[in-house]
This record gives sequence, structure tokens and C-alpha cells, in this order.
Amino acid sequence: MAADTLSIKDNRTGKSYDVPITDDTIRAIDLRQIKVKDDDFGMMTYDPAFMNTAACRSAITYIDGDRGILRYRGYPIEQIAETSTFLEVAYLLFEGELPNKAQLDKWTNDIRYHTYVHTNLIKFLEGYRYDAHPMGMLLGIVVGLSTFYPDAKDISNPQNRYTQRIRLMAKLPTLAAYLFRHSRGLPYELPRNDLDYVANYVNMMFSIGGKHEPNPVLQRALEILLILHADHEQNCSTSAVRAVGSSGVDPFSAVSAGIAALYGPSHGGANEAVLVMLDEIGSKDRIPAFVDSVKAGHGRLMGFGHRVYKSYDPRAKLIKKVADGVFAQTGLNKKLEIALELERIALSDEYFIKRKLYPNVDFYSGLIYQAMGYPTDYFTVLFAIGRLPGWLAQWEEMINDKEQKIARPRQIYTGHGERAYVPMEKRK
Ligand code: ACO
Repeated sequence: MAADTLSIKDNRTGKSYDVPITDDTIRAIDLRQIKVKDDDFGMMTYDPAFMNTAACRSAITYIDGDRGILRYRGYPIEQIAETSTFLEVAYLLFEGELPNKAQLDKWTNDIRYHTYVHTNLIKFLEGYRYDAHPMGMLLGIVVGLSTFYPDAKDISNPQNRYTQRIRLMAKLPTLAAYLFRHSRGLPYELPRNDLDYVANYVNMMFSIGGKHEPNPVLQRALEILLILHADHEQNCSTSAVRAVGSSGVDPFSAVSAGIAALYGPSHGGANEAVLVMLDEIGSKDRIPAFVDSVKAGHGRLMGFGHRVYKSYDPRAKLIKKVADGVFAQTGLNKKLEIALELERIALSDEYFIKRKLYPNVDFYSGLIYQAMGYPTDYFTVLFAIGRLPGWLAQWEEMINDKEQKIARPRQIYTGHGERAYVPMEKRK
């Protein structure tokens, strides 16, 4: 028997099977040979929420959740966050290597050339009420882009995919800023292509009467936050992009599926939920009672816990450093003081220690965004801008992966057996 196999004995039949092991993994399809009768469907694996199922092979992001390691294309997140720009990281995720100067210049210029959006998109945006949730607006407007670029449907052409990637990277910050201005009833600020990616976005958000005094510390802090969010392998929103993209739909539609997934409070919506939670707590003396209610099963400590990280989220460590720089500029606030105390109490509480619940990336990001002047319900939009390169890189990898087909999980049917249709007059 080869060493790299798994022997399985089916005690229903007494038969044994040797299943190949590659990368510490067996292929679920190899289990289909395990049957009681020849005409059985064969054995499946049952894995709700994909707790232990690899759905792809990927060379983009490496995570070791137990040791708190995150690497993009092999580079530790700590080194990348310290020195790179967001566009450099996006290039790295797409192309697999860090760009040289000429490559980065071309990439940056290609994006710069596409920052404007069709004015009809603004009419579309204005159909939303001023108080519509920013993520709902973002979701709608990004999927709307697919109707403006019908050429995006040709996903078989790599050059065409590059064009759509550039369009999305260039236009997402413009749309994100425009929907903020729409909520405020402020005039739209056109993209300024003499500014870099982050500076242009911040200018479109906050410029009043054509004037905005940039704060380099806050802009670099935002850039680091975008970098920290750029990819996180097969998380919920990326899996959504891959699953929807696997049907062959255009990238605008596939990315909007990612935005929809990110919107949820268990995923990208958590940074917003953290601020809501801190508001509910209200003051430091109420923290112990709040922690007790979480432990009793009434709600969760938002910004704590992670499906993959069972030690401190490495991004949360970096974010804490960023927070120090930002708050040195903007000053401490009451919410931050509650957050610091909440973290201290939770990290020393047996309930959280036993379950390996540590702060995740969202625990501090919302506080930083708030200090920078972004409204609470807008935080997840910033996450989406950061995550876009990851979604697109994973989408591209999926398209080039010959093993991938349309995503189509199996189920264990638990409903009725066949029964006769009941006419209306005979129903109870
Ligand atoms: N507060 C209190 N208890 C928690 C928390 C929390 N934040 N997270 C998990 N637990 C407890 C659960 O109640 C459960 O306890 P039990 O074993 O006594 O039943 C145990 O820890 C395991 O929890 P699961 O739900 O099985 O963990 P899972 O890996 O499925 O969940 C998740 C991960 C969704 C992130 C969860 O920790 C959570 O809801 N956190 C709060 C929301 C949040 O911050 N989300 C952001 C995630 S990071 C991101 O998307 C960028």
C-alpha cells in the first residue's frame, strides 16, 4: 500500500478502499466509489459552512490561523503593511510578484485613466433615498456597472479581463465617494488624477468647495487599512465571488455578490456592529454587565473571534499600531476608551480564553474610520474598497484553474418521500 493513501473500511460491507492523499487532503469525489449497492449514488462528505473543505487550490494568500500568520504571495503582512502602497499590493495579488518601477507606473496610470464614471451612473445613484444604507447603494451601483460595460461578458479573453479589473479598481473609489456625497446632499467632486489613489479618494469624499487639506498621517493610515483588508483567502465574500463567477458571469456581477456577502454583520458589517455595541455599552462601568450578558448567550462581542484565527489576528495587531498614530492626531474619544477596557477584560476572561476569542481586524478599524470622519454605516464600504483586489485576483485564479467548474454543492435531502399532489379543495 502506498504511504500517501488513506485506508477506509466500510463496516456496512466489510470492503476496504485506499484513497490518495495529496497536500494532507483527500478528494471528496474519491469517496463516491464507496457504496453498499452498485446503483447507490456513493458516499459524500457533509460539511455545513465549509468548516473543513478546500474548494480550490490557491497561490494568493497564506494564513496559519493558529500561529496568527498572514502572507500575500509569500510576503508577511507586517512587511507589506509597513512599506507598500495599496496599488502595489493589488498588483502583487493579481500578478504574483511585486511590480518593478515601470510595471507599477503602467498599472497606476491605467487605473488613473479610468477613474471617471459615466454620468448616467449618477442618475442611477440618485434613485436611492438619501438615507439608503451605503452598502446597499454600493451593491446596486457596482452590479449596475455591468450594464454600462457589456463587453465585460467576454471573460475568456485575458486582455479584456484586465480592462474590467482596471475599471473596477479605478471606479470603485469614485462610486464609494459619490454615494457618500449623495447621502449628504453634497455636490460630487470629480476625480483628480494628479493625486494618488488614496489621496484622490479622500479628496472626492471630503473636499468642500474644491478645497481639502490632506492629512498625510490619516491618509497613510487609511492606505494601511486597505492593504490589511486586501485579501483573506476563501472568506465568505471571496467564496461568493468565486461561486457566482463560476457561472461565467461578468466580473461586475461577481464582485457585487462579494459586496452582498461583505454587508452581513458576521463578515464586513462587523466593524459597524462594533461601534453600535460600544454605543450600547455607553460607559466603562457598564462593561462587566455587558460581558456577562454575552457569556450568558445574549449576543456576541462584536469584533472578537474568527473562523480561522484562533490566536490574535495579525491584522488587528497592526491596526492597533495604526490606531495609535491616528488618535495621536485626532485625540482619544470615549468609545476608544470603552474599547480598550473591553478588550482588556475580555482577554483575561476564561470564557474568551477557552474559546480562543481574540480581537479581529474589525475591532479597531471602525474606531479609526470614525476618528477619520467616516459615518458608521459607511465603514463596510471602506472594507469593500480594500477587498476588491482580493476578489478580483481570486476570480482570475478561478478562471485560469482548469479543475474549476460551476460551483454546485450537494445536499442530504431530508424532505418527504414521493407523495401525490393534493388539489386545493382537499387541502386542510
Ligand atoms: N462573542 C461571544 N462568543 C463568541 C464570539 C463572540 N464574538 N464568537 C464566537 N463565540 C463563541 C460561540 O458562542 C461558541 O461558543 P460555544 O462553543 O459555547 O457554543 C464558540 O465561541 C465558537 O463560535 P462559532 O460561532 O462556532 O465560531 P465561528 O468560527 O463559526 O464564528 C465568527 C466566527 C462568525 C467571526 C464569530 O466569532 C463572531 O460572530 N464574531 C463576532 C462578529 C465579528 O466580529 N465578525 C468579524 C469577523 S472578521 C471579518 O469578517 C473581517
